[in-house]
Amino acid sequence: MKTLLKNCKLNNETVNILIKDSIFYYIGKNTPDADTEYDLKNLIVIPGIIDPHVHVRDLKQSEKEDWTSASNAALRGGITTIFDMPNTRPPTVNLQYLNLKREKAKTAKINYKFNIAATSQNITKLIEILDTKPEDVAALKLFLAGSNSNEYVDNKSDIKRIFEISSKYDLPVIIHTELQKCVEKFSSKVKNPTVKEHNFMRNRECSVRGTELVISLAKEIGNKIYLAHISTAEEIDIIQNNKNKCRVYCEITPHHLLLNENVLEKAGNFGKVNPPLRTEKDNKRIMQGINDGTVDTIGTDHAPHLISEKLKNYLETPSGFPGLETALPLLLNEVNKENFSLKRLTELTSEKSAEIFKLKKRGQIKEGFFADLTVIDLNKTWKIEAKNFKTKAKYSPYEGITGKGDIVMTFVNGKLKLKSKIL
Ligand code: DOR
Ligand code: ZN
Repeated sequence: MKTLLKNCKLNNETVNILIKDSIFYYIGKNTPDADTEYDLKNLIVIPGIIDPHVHVRDLKQSEKEDWTSASNAALRGGITTIFDMPNTRPPTVNLQYLNLKREKAKTAKINYKFNIAATSQNITKLIEILDTKPEDVAALKLFLAGSNSNEYVDNKSDIKRIFEISSKYDLPVIIHTELQKCVEKFSSKVKNPTVKEHNFMRNRECSVRGTELVISLAKEIGNKIYLAHISTAEEIDIIQNNKNKCRVYCEITPHHLLLNENVLEKAGNFGKVNPPLRTEKDNKRIMQGINDGTVDTIGTDHAPHLISEKLKNYLETPSGFPGLETALPLLLNEVNKENFSLKRLTELTSEKSAEIFKLKKRGQIKEGFFADLTVIDLNKTWKIEAKNFKTKAKYSPYEGITGKGDIVMTFVNGKLKLKSKIL
């Protein structure tokens, strides 16, 4: 099966791309024969987005999201590979539960891998999984604080053991760096809190101290640490200063880049997320971190919950909101505003994740690589209306925001999985 994409704009050049089965077979000026042809009329093509940070749910929380709804949301967002997080019901803490998840994930329409939980209780079970040399495991996931209802690790010796395992099996540890005791300390200071106090209660100090701690331990042990959803200016500074001293990688989310606590006036609990939305100063430093090379990747932290749960009062409502469909349009809007280049964006959303998590022949549009590809139109305008989302979580702190730059087609392994009306 051959598919020809004619007149693609790739790195500022107009080329034809021939996909044979699941692979980019030819990229250049020739016009080879194919079974199917699309004239892209000079629309830009970028590598399919790789998102290392997605909460698919399913299993006992399929009312919040399942592999079909998550896949459809990903495709709408130009995302072709996702890594599923382990804080599911049941949690991905042993081979039996991983196997349950593997069964469910067979319905996925995108590429996927699993991040498996590393806790104080499951070390033996974790080793049991890793000893099977699983090709579908991307990383270990370590929480240093409770965030909804995950298990967390709050002592140094267990963190070190987990880092040693990470080193032995050469798998990165993805870390949620907020520290539990610190969160408890600040939370206890507020009586009758609302979401406006969320940023104080899960205080920036808790993220900063957690980041310092894991960097110091990774220096000792030498494993790869991938710090998820970095939210503060201080952490960007710390990571920048330690980049050459240990194997630390920095993930940011679109919401910590583009939103801050000011949005909570309007968004209310829809904007409750961990780590919390911080301040404008943090947004600016994260943007700077994108351009100075400190930030390595962008993950969505797609964290769907029922809208009925998100309408509960602050203390009862779970943290998190959907992000698969909004991430790339929001980021393309930033490219249009010249806050960073399209090239830098594709490094952050595809190339670097493929490198950190060792995805073979993915993350770039190159002959011989898997044909995961997203066609974009930088001039197409949009307005975020959660009622139109493909995810089951039809709410968003971005509701009503407008911008420019959208997804037109999404190809996964050479197959067209999404096509917008405009082409
Ligand atoms: O806001 C969040 N939601 N942060 C997390 O760490 C977990 C996530 C979830 O699973 O809902
Ligand atoms: Zn998460």
